[in-house]
Amino acid sequence: MSFHREFELILQNLFIERKYKENMNINFIRETIEDIVSSKKTTSSKQQAICDFLENQISYYHWVGFYFKNGDKQELKLAEFTGEPTDHTIIPFGKGICGQVALSNKNFVVQDVTEQENYISCGWKVKSEIVIPIFVEGENIGQIDIDSHDSNPFSEHDELLLEFVCAKVAELHKN
Ligand code: SME
Repeated sequence: MSFHREFELILQNLFIERKYKENMNINFIRETIEDIVSSKKTTSSKQQAICDFLENQISYYHWVGFYFKNGDKQELKLAEFTGEPTDHTIIPFGKGICGQVALSNKNFVVQDVTEQENYISCGWKVKSEIVIPIFVEGENIGQIDIDSHDSNPFSEHDELLLEFVCAKVAELHKN
């Protein structure tokens, strides 16, 4: 076997092992989120527990927070979060990654924030960001926002996991 092929196989195994571990973790994370949501706490303490848990579990999640539509205003208001406090507690629709998701109703994965013109910086350490909207009966009521200090850390696993989290949080906001 050539050196090149051998190297390729080692890399492939590393990748499979990593994926396997991620999947194991994802099951555990999903179960814990379900437990938090079905617990007897208030909505706010459940959302805080979700932020704390995700930040703690996933090494490249350095800031995890929820923004929700601020009443009838065309703006988002920061709710629960884990990580460094931010000045951006109110974000007008259309502004930054969060404000764009409020209008687009789509996931926004930013692997490198320096490539975004419409971006609100929450600190020099942040290199990437993922924002997933929360829907109640088809209406975009808010979002989960995650900042990472790593470049290019997100995969489809993050989108799937966070869509699951958002669907669970949506249950807390149904009338
Ligand atoms: N970077 C976000 C602002 C919120 S902070 O990440 C906490 C944005 O561009 O909308």
